[in-house]
Amino acid sequence: MNVFLTGSTGFLGGKLIKNLLQDKQSEIYILVRNVEKAERLRDSLPAADQGRIHIFQGDITFPHAGLSAEDLEWLTGKIDAVYHLAALVKFDLDLRDELFAANYNGTKHILQLAESLGVKKFYYVSTAYTVGKLTKGIEALYPTDGEFHNPYEESKVKSEHLVFSYRDKMDVSIFRPAIIVGDSKTGEADSQFTLYGFMRALAVFKRKTERRNGERTYRLVAAQNGTSNLVPVDYVADILSLAPHKARPDKIYHITNPHPPENMKLLKVIKEALQFEHLTVTDDVTEYHLDEEEVKLNSLIEVFKVYLSGALTFDDRNTRELIEGTEIDHLEMSEETIEMIIGAGCGEEEKVRV
Ligand SMILES: NC(=O)c1ccc[n+]([C@@H]2O[C@H](COP(=O)([O-])OP(=O)(O)OC[C@H]3O[C@@H](n4cnc5c(N)ncnc54)[C@H](OP(=O)(O)O)[C@@H]3O)[C@@H](O)[C@H]2O)c1
Repeated sequence: MNVFLTGSTGFLGGKLIKNLLQDKQSEIYILVRNVEKAERLRDSLPAADQGRIHIFQGDITFPHAGLSAEDLEWLTGKIDAVYHLAALVKFDLDLRDELFAANYNGTKHILQLAESLGVKKFYYVSTAYTVGKLTKGIEALYPTDGEFHNPYEESKVKSEHLVFSYRDKMDVSIFRPAIIVGDSKTGEADSQFTLYGFMRALAVFKRKTERRNGERTYRLVAAQNGTSNLVPVDYVADILSLAPHKARPDKIYHITNPHPPENMKLLKVIKEALQFEHLTVTDDVTEYHLDEEEVKLNSLIEVFKVYLSGALTFDDRNTRELIEGTEIDHLEMSEETIEMIIGAGCGEEEKVRV
């Protein structure tokens, strides 16, 4: 199996590449912006596997990802499957152009590239949050004119439609993880975004205010009945690794948590892990008035807070069918696992501080 992978230098890609290498027959072709970073990744893998990683420099915002004519010729007819993970994972409203350039145009370019290389299977990593402002996630395409919280979600919905428009040219399947967090066994997470960006913002706020005003408390507002749909990175990578053998064309797979932790509990765990005693959480139902500093705290983490609001549910019937008969169990994340993952994430934050 010859696999072409985008986003290998990212949080999920770094995990997926290790899984894909377990098939000793496979050769992995990675498209990267930064060759030095890719070489560091390759050097971190077992020596016996390093020869099966082939690095190609490119950028998905360019047609054919900016690959040279020689690279294109060399790759033509060689690739069995493409995993397209590369994306800009940011929720800021003012990054619309950058998000569409990377996520929408980037996907278009990788689809065109796959077609011209004669690829037969295409796996697109989207997000469970293509659900936008709906409250129930289904394993089907959502309308492109739905309501979204940010251009990230919109760019991903539109990209999914693009991917499905190639269904007569190759087998396409879409995978939609929820909020990806650290490894379920070690807590390890190579990420600064999503939940990790949130924890970092809290830690920075704590440090700054501690120096100025040690004793006062700060309130964080969260939805009373909200849950956070966390999924460990190894679970996501394990499911993606099944794709070449078991994914069915035209299917969408939710990689979500059937029993997500409640926000109030999660925030308590984060607060304890950060040793932020002066943080309190108030629900959005009780009447509250925030002072200037609290408004600042809440606005710092505003982009992430949409993912702490409401209690979404996701149907993951296709994924349950996909993992049936494999060694992968349907996700059950215990409270201890969540505490361990959050603790490890906050430990990383402390390292950054040192
Ligand atoms: N993290 C989550 O919670 C989450 C949840 C649901 C879905 N997802 C999806 O999962 C996928 C992977 O996410 P992640 O968390 O691993 O993201 P990440 O850590 O930010 O990694 C993004 C990857 O995309 C690459 N990339 C970005 N722009 C590129 C460009 N113009 N050309 C080539 N490569 C480019 C990055 O390369 P550099 O190393 O050069 O920056 C990096 O390898 C994304 O599609 C994301 O939407 C993530």
